[in-house]
This record gives sequence, C-alpha cells and structure tokens, in this order.
Amino acid sequence: MIQPASMIIGTGSCAPDKVLTNSDLEKMVDTSDEWIKERTGIERRHILETEKTNSDLGACAAERAIEDAGLKAKDIDCILVATITPDSFFPSTACGVQAKIGAKDAAAMDVSAACSGFLYGMTLADALIRSGQYRNVLVIGSEVLSRFTDWEDRTTCVLFGDGAGAAVMTESDGTRGLLSSFIKSDGRLGRLLYLPGGGSTHPATHETVDQHLHTIRMEGREVFKHAVRTMVDAAVHGLEKGEVHSDDIDLLITHQANMRIIDAVRERLKLPEEKVFINLQEFGNTSAASIPLALDQARREGRIRPGDKVLLVAFGGGFTWASGVVQF
Ligand SMILES: CC(C)(COP(=O)(O)OP(=O)(O)OC[C@H]1O[C@@H](n2cnc3c(N)ncnc32)[C@H](O)[C@@H]1OP(=O)(O)O)[C@@H](O)C(=O)NCCC(=O)NCCS
Repeated sequence: MIQPASMIIGTGSCAPDKVLTNSDLEKMVDTSDEWIKERTGIERRHILETEKTNSDLGACAAERAIEDAGLKAKDIDCILVATITPDSFFPSTACGVQAKIGAKDAAAMDVSAACSGFLYGMTLADALIRSGQYRNVLVIGSEVLSRFTDWEDRTTCVLFGDGAGAAVMTESDGTRGLLSSFIKSDGRLGRLLYLPGGGSTHPATHETVDQHLHTIRMEGREVFKHAVRTMVDAAVHGLEKGEVHSDDIDLLITHQANMRIIDAVRERLKLPEEKVFINLQEFGNTSAASIPLALDQARREGRIRPGDKVLLVAFGGGFTWASGVVQF
C-alpha cells in the first residue's frame, strides 16, 4: 500500500464570462457547428476580456481554492503556475498571482509543460512537500490561449479557450493523497505543436508578425495519434506506480482536447463512460487549465466523494505527457 506524501485540500476554478460559440466561429472562418461538434465535441469556449490578464484569471481560481481549503493567502508557501500563455516572459505569471492574492513572501514560479503543465506542477508540489521544503503549495493551471490563436486558421482557432483551475496541496494525513505521478517528454516532436515566434529563435519583428509566427501551429492529425498513445502509456504507468488497478478507478479526468481522443483513451483503459468526466463541450481545449478546471467542476458537482480514486491524464506540446492517481 502506497503512503502518499501530499494531498489536495482545496480546489477552485474560474472561467471568463464571455462565450464564443461554434456559430460565432462560422461567421469568422470557413467552418460549421456540425464539423466542430463531430470532429472535436466542442460547442463553446470562454474568452478572457481584453482588459484582464492570465494572472487575473489564475488569481481568481487560486482565491477559490484557498477558501475551499479553509486557508488564507498568507498560509501559502509556494505558488506554481502551469502556463504557456504567461502575462509576459518575465516576471512570471506566478509572481503576478502572488501579488494579486497577497500571498506574502511565498515562492513563485511558472511551469512550462503545455497541456501537461498542471500534472507537472502537482508532481513538483508533491516533491517540495515530501522533502519538507514547504507545507502548503498552490498549483494553478491558467491559460489565455485566445491571445495566441490565429483567428484566420480554421484548423486551430476552433479548438482553444481560456480558463484557470487551482489546487492547494499540503502534507498528507496518511489516509489520502497523491498515490503516484508520472511525467515524461520527447522534445524531438516539438515542431508538431508549437508557437514559433517571440522567443530567441524568432524574436519579434514586423516580418514575424506578418508571417503569423506569434500564434499556435499544429499538425492536428499527427498530434492526435501521439496523444492517444502517450496518454494510455501515462495512465498505465501511473496506475502501476500507484499500485492501483484500473477497475478501482472511480473517475478518469483527461486533458480536454478532443472527444475522440478521450473516447480512445477510455476504451483502451476499458473504463465505462460513466467513469469519465468531460467538460470539453463548454470550454474547448484550455491547455494547462483543462485538468484543474475539470477536477474542480467534478468535485463541486459531487462526482468525487471521500475515498474515491481519480486518475488524471494529460498530453501536450513538447511533447509532454503525464498522469496522477489521487485518492480523495
Ligand atoms: C485538429 C483535429 C480536430 C482535426 O480533425 P481531423 O479529423 O484530424 O481533421 P483533418 O485535419 O484530417 O482534416 C479533415 C478535413 O477537415 C478540414 N478542416 C480542418 N479544420 C476544419 C474546420 N474547423 N472546419 C471545417 N473543416 C475543417 C481540413 O481542411 C480537411 O479538409 P480536406 O480533407 O479537404 O483536406 C484533430 O486532428 C485533433 O483533434 N488533433 C489533436 C489536436 C489536439 O489535441 N491538440 C492539442 C493537444 S494538447
């Protein structure tokens, strides 16, 4: 029996009010509600108001998670923000959140692992708690993908949305917590899903803007194949490491990218449909925010009860992939 070192004691999430539906997108690019629903399962996505930033969204989710944990911001020792759409290169979005929630003197840093970022963050939080470095670690996944989307490219613009989710992790009480986590990468496949411009490879110039280098590029079909294969791999290894059989999983929460990917992963793991939580139709792909957003919604809807074992699985640009088995 695995003895967990850390556990989740509170979750929170935040989505912008503004909604962009598939029929709104029909007016912007050559697409249809029918194509988007059939090929992805997405119906709507939320878009952050122009005057707000990633750290506003992250701070909103963080405050809800801290309240749910019964703590105050001053109790947070370390803030990890998983994101690929930061407020700026530096300072980190985590420092923005630290200031906005008033987590005085907390350590703060960003984690860049694309859609696997939240599970990378949970893994780091677990290690920090396990080592005795920190007591309460706030892990946030927060994204404003709408600002890095090419709204003229129908192959990507229908997929993404904005949102944030957060979890407060602390030392396990010995009965519940993170039973296992598994994180991997393969950087050779980075060019299948990336944002070319703005870094030191292609610093911003008029030309990089004209060439649309500051928005997400993706080889959808290739990404799809790797997503299914690596998410199944992450799930199998996470279960093995946590000494948990797939029959004992009460709920599967995967990264919410495409309904067909989620179905393929569920089928390979031989889990019934009722054991899978899906909110992709409402939010689209929110990258690092997708798992904590779904986890918080599942908890608030009563889909996760004390004692339940939840399997979290993600895949993202890098490529990165990850899983976590959490006993609540
Ligand atoms: C992007 C994705 C939905 C495309 O679905 P697909 O079934 O693979 O579709 P294809 O790319 O093969 O395109 C099929 C056709 O639809 C067209 N198409 C693409 N986007 C379209 C859209 N928004 N509306 C209408 N038609 C579209 C293509 O141009 C292509 O047309 P063609 O056959 O005339 O060339 C799918 O590949 C996917 O979800 N990939 C993984 C994405 C992902 O998870 N990314 C994030 C990982 S974290």
